[in-house]
Amino acid sequence: MGSQGAPAQLAGAARGSEVPASNRMGFGAQPRLKMTENRRLGVLISGRGSNLQAIIDAVAAGRLLATIAVVIANTANASGLARARRAGIETMVLAHTAYPSREAYDEALVAELRRRDVWLVCLAGFMRLLSSTFIEAFPNRILNIHPSLLPAFVGLHGQDQAWRYGVKIAGATVHVVTPELDAGPIVLQAVVPVEDADTAETLAARILVEEHRIYPEAIGIVLDGGWRIDGRRFVRS
Ligand code: GRF
Repeated sequence: MGSQGAPAQLAGAARGSEVPASNRMGFGAQPRLKMTENRRLGVLISGRGSNLQAIIDAVAAGRLLATIAVVIANTANASGLARARRAGIETMVLAHTAYPSREAYDEALVAELRRRDVWLVCLAGFMRLLSSTFIEAFPNRILNIHPSLLPAFVGLHGQDQAWRYGVKIAGATVHVVTPELDAGPIVLQAVVPVEDADTAETLAARILVEEHRIYPEAIGIVLDGGWRIDGRRFVRS
């Protein structure tokens, strides 16, 4: 897949967006975003990449109108890289260990994404906290999938946390990434009832099915525009 350099004026700017620079990061009422003509995704992974696969499949099936411009992993061990290669998608390993600081690593990531004219960044099991350097480079244009009904069970192993807590309703959440961990505006959620016979593993497996369903759908919603962030609410109108 192509990796042509992005025109400088597009770097970090939401082509097709009406969000003024002064209001990009705030949670105040923002103007409705128009459908973006740039539907290029950058997917960041650290592991097996089953959510990446769901995105690849949705694009291939025509359910998601988007181009996966690049898949970047922070470790060469990420087995999800093979999924991208099989689908003919450009891959890149950008090892965080090669950079002196989180900011330096994030700057390198941003540069690679901009070089490929990525509009929307999709975290798909990317096991790194993002600095404000990264988040401000893609204002309201970074999504994450989390395996719980946020705001419950933030952080690692959300499914396991839910199972141990004993909730009867678990689920998955796609949200906009903001500086606070797992706390950005919610785009979509899916509910997964917890059965008495569940183990943490069987529950996680059913949550994963829902993750694979809602992540491509949420990406399509964000790319289609016609939404705004009002307070901390992601609102379609
Ligand atoms: C998923 O459970 C996702 O919710 C969480 O990390 C896991 C990644 O799995 N953020 P995969 O690499 O997409 O299979």
